[in-house]
Amino acid sequence: MAIFLDTGNVQEVEKYMKMGVIRGVTTNPTILLKDGVKGGKKEIEEISIQIAKLIYPYPLSVEVTSNDYREMIVEAEEYSKWAENINVKITIHGPNGEMDNLVVIHELATKYKIQINATAMMSAQQCLLAAMSGAAYVSLFGGRVNNMGYNCSLEIKKLRTVLDSLELKAKIIIGSTREILNVMEWLEAGADIVTVVPDILKGMIIHPYTKETVQMFLKDAAETNKRS
Ligand code: E4P
Repeated sequence: MAIFLDTGNVQEVEKYMKMGVIRGVTTNPTILLKDGVKGGKKEIEEISIQIAKLIYPYPLSVEVTSNDYREMIVEAEEYSKWAENINVKITIHGPNGEMDNLVVIHELATKYKIQINATAMMSAQQCLLAAMSGAAYVSLFGGRVNNMGYNCSLEIKKLRTVLDSLELKAKIIIGSTREILNVMEWLEAGADIVTVVPDILKGMIIHPYTKETVQMFLKDAAETNKRS
C-alpha cells in the first residue's frame, strides 16, 4: 500500500519526498495546467524529467495530450524515453467513447513494453478490462464515483477480489480524492495506491489537537527549564 502525490508542483514533491511519505507521483493535463505548466510539450518534458529524477526509483505518471491513435503511441514512446521511472497515462476510452484507446493500451504494453496507467475510470469493470489489456496501473477516480452517488469503496473491494482471483498484476490507484477520510478508507478497501493532492496530504499530517498537545509540551518544558 502506498500514497502518491497528485501534482505537477516540483516544490511540493520535494517537500514530501524529504519526509519519506510518498512513493510516487501522478499528473494529468488539468493538474499540470493548474500548477502553472503553460509552455506546451517542452515544459511538460522539463517538469516530468525534474519530478522523475526527484522521486527515482518511484514512478511518475504522465498523460498523453491527444486522443489520436498514432499520436498516443508517439507520445508514449517519447515520454518513456525521458526517464526510466515514467509510466504513461492513457484514458480508457476517448471523449466520445472511442474504443481505440484499449488497442493503444494493449499495443503499448505488449509490443512496446511501456508501463501504462489506464486512467479516467469510474467503475471496477472498466479497471478489470484495462488490467486484462495489459495496463500496469488502473486508475479509478474515487471522488468522481462518489459524486455520482456510488460508493467507491465497494468498487475497490470488487476490483481487488477480481484482480486477485484472475492473478492480474495491475496495481489499483485511486485518485480524485476529495476528503482526508478517503485515503485510509480506500486503502483499507483494497487499493494499492491512493494518490492525493498536497492539501489532503497536509491535512492528514496536521491535527488541531496535536498542535494543542505540542504547545502544552513546549510551554511546560520552558517552565521546567526556568525552574532549573
Ligand atoms: C489521478 O491519477 C487523477 O489524475 C486525479 O486524481 C483526478 O482527480 P480529479 O477528479 O480531481 O480531476
